[in-house]
Amino acid sequence: MANTIEPGVMATYARADEVFVDGAGAVVRTADGREFLDFLSGIAVSALGHNHPRLTAALHDQLDKVVHLSNLFRHQHTESVATRLCQHTGMAAAFFTNSGAESVECAIKIARKAMQVRGSAHRTSFVALEGAFHGRSMGALSLTHNEAHRAPFAPLLEVHWVAPNDVGALQSTIRERQPAALFLEPIQGEGGVRELSREFLQAARAICTETDTLLVHDEIQSGCGRTGSFLAAQHHEVTPDLVTLAKSIGAGLPMGACLASDAYKDTLQTGEHGTTFGGGPLVCRAASVFLDELDNGLQEQVIARGEQLHAGLQMLKNEFTIVKEVRGRGLMLGLQLDRPAQEVQQALHKKGLLITCTKGDVLRIVPPFVITEEQVADGLQRLREALAAFSPLPAK
Ligand SMILES: Cc1ncc(COP(=O)(O)O)c(C=O)c1O
Repeated sequence: MANTIEPGVMATYARADEVFVDGAGAVVRTADGREFLDFLSGIAVSALGHNHPRLTAALHDQLDKVVHLSNLFRHQHTESVATRLCQHTGMAAAFFTNSGAESVECAIKIARKAMQVRGSAHRTSFVALEGAFHGRSMGALSLTHNEAHRAPFAPLLEVHWVAPNDVGALQSTIRERQPAALFLEPIQGEGGVRELSREFLQAARAICTETDTLLVHDEIQSGCGRTGSFLAAQHHEVTPDLVTLAKSIGAGLPMGACLASDAYKDTLQTGEHGTTFGGGPLVCRAASVFLDELDNGLQEQVIARGEQLHAGLQMLKNEFTIVKEVRGRGLMLGLQLDRPAQEVQQALHKKGLLITCTKGDVLRIVPPFVITEEQVADGLQRLREALAAFSPLPAK
């Protein structure tokens, strides 16, 4: 990994050396014609894969109409996407953003303002979970647990940390600290594809209701159908007060949303929050196509491909002792290894499979929703070969 391609770009990422130029479905291609199978989706973003014909046609059409208007004016796609997101989530209103971090910032501001409105302005702190990742802007970073991400930027907002799935610790922390809001990811993405238990999610809902604490579900990575239901928390029948979305919703275009339940849909008044670009016609047209696809069979495909992938990963776990655990749901899966996952990730890269690691020892598998049955089988085979190279003797 070296930042050799664009020396003028800040070195905040370790970039791979390949220069990618195009793609189709779950395959991307380099300038010199090499093809990579995509188990990464640009970090859980490209739900419709690459060069999706209906998305491309709709975007061309939109380019011929209008690209930007600002939020001073109404637009058909902005309003219809807001309505559809609310229908899918049980929320009542959307604030559109350009990224995940901005969706989280909006949720932070709604929580702070809600406390002021109800005469609890002293409730300014937050509770979040160990392993959480909510973004890199100052508010979102405050809720992000990784000390290496946080330390250079102190001081941050006051956040109290609770271990995932520790119901007792969550209840006592919220009762004692009286935060404005609890933020959680129903499935922690950067935290190693770690699922919160049904019991914990339901207990979080109950304690937040009891203490008038806002419950914010960050479904930026797990949402928009990736886990087999529109929101991951819907598997557990838990409804938060606010939901943050981004990644898949724009099918590759920069878009996010903070959705508020009926009780909080009017908390931010005119002029109290804003964005120049958020919710513009072009990105909402993309979201509109994405939602059409999801509603017209793609959600079922996610479920089917997720089951295929999960079963294949379980077989790899049975076969190789270096695989410790299979985690996640739908097309948000993780393979925990007994070693730094980067070693295997680099071997897979050489085999033409794009994949990322999280939490040091987890290979994260988040392919486009449009990945085919054959491509899943192909990816599993490449994984198998890479794992075999690291553990030559069949162990079980
Ligand atoms: C759960 C979660 N929240 C927030 C973010 C931040 O999103 P963005 O990078 O678009 O600001 C991410 C990004 O990985 C995420 O996975």
